[in-house]
Amino acid sequence: MDYSNKNFPALKNSRLLDAANGKDVDKVPVWVMRQAGRYLPEFQAVRAKHDFFTVCRTPELACEVTLQPLRRYDHLDASIIFSDILVIPQALGMTVEMHPGQGPVFPKPLASPSEINELQEEGAVSRLLYVGQAITLTRHKIEGKVPLIGFTGAPFTLMGYMIEGGGSKTMSKTKEWLDKHSKDVHRLLSLLTRVIIDYLVMQVDSGAQLLQVFESSADHLSREQFAEVSAPYLKDIRTGVQKKLQEKSLEQVPMTVFAKGGGHSLDIQATMGYETIGLDWTVDPVEARKVVGDNITLQGNLDPQDLYKSPEEIKNLTKEMVQKFGKTRYIANLGHGITPQTPLESMTAFTEAVHEAL
Ligand code: CP3
Repeated sequence: MDYSNKNFPALKNSRLLDAANGKDVDKVPVWVMRQAGRYLPEFQAVRAKHDFFTVCRTPELACEVTLQPLRRYDHLDASIIFSDILVIPQALGMTVEMHPGQGPVFPKPLASPSEINELQEEGAVSRLLYVGQAITLTRHKIEGKVPLIGFTGAPFTLMGYMIEGGGSKTMSKTKEWLDKHSKDVHRLLSLLTRVIIDYLVMQVDSGAQLLQVFESSADHLSREQFAEVSAPYLKDIRTGVQKKLQEKSLEQVPMTVFAKGGGHSLDIQATMGYETIGLDWTVDPVEARKVVGDNITLQGNLDPQDLYKSPEEIKNLTKEMVQKFGKTRYIANLGHGITPQTPLESMTAFTEAVHEAL
């Protein structure tokens, strides 16, 4: 495979990009966070043979699982490259393992602020080139059917995993750092922001057509904390990506910010420069629209647990949701990732209902 060949097949379905850019669409675009994942038997089959991060690091495997949901579901209007947010801490020199049933585990999390100095910022993005290769390969193999989304974790969310050593219900260590080591916290968030900007630009250079930034741990933050440790960095990422794409004569791409649990800060999010704001299911579509105004696209926000209801109920709930958001500047999605036990026909019901709704 010649990864320098960026002569990609022409895009046949531009609904997602049109909605993100505020253009009219024939139908509301739909995709699903974690659409390549454990609810799919064909994904389970790949995972039975290969370790999670091996799939991430092998362009052919990452490409294959990225394409799996598109083969099964005709109504999907986007794909998202298969990877994980935690490949960044790995590229900075930390070990991250995926333990079945438990999720990600860092055997040696950051124990004190002095360990920030051991992170290998230099060369981090070159150690992530496998993600770019997976993107390039997928852009060729997808044959222009739908656009390909690239993504990253946001600085605060990544910092949380690096300090806690995995997922955490309380984020108690991270909160202690916020209290006791405020300066070091900002030093680490700035380091992550620099790496993320270059990582996202590399993804665009490789073929990503839209970028989503996951601030999945925003649900641990108050509005004041969000304004201090999340928003400034999210804004720097948006501005930094735009500036570097311009410097490198690369095409600009729309960007989405998804701050899970950040419904209390939508007004702040609306000032960060992102074309699209992702919403979890706790946010009312009509209220969100009032807060962010008419020049931002909204994405979301069906409760993933609703996909355990009957196909008929799913269709009704989805159509109600789409009607509340309306056809302008809207991308349908769940309010968080699809969960492993979701019945396969629920995805059919959800994606079909979006296209039937308006
Ligand atoms: O959306 C997609 O289809 C693309 C793939 C994708 C994965 N992770 C694959 C994955 C994306 C976009 C992510 C992002 C990610 N990873 C986030 C942000 C989104 C969110 O859900 O809030 C976070 C917080 C992570 C870190 C992470 N990775 C956790 C907490 C877990 C364990 C929880 C779980 O669902 O198991 C993972 C593992 C993971 N990432 C799996 C997949 C398909 C399942 C692991 C497996 O196959 O064994």
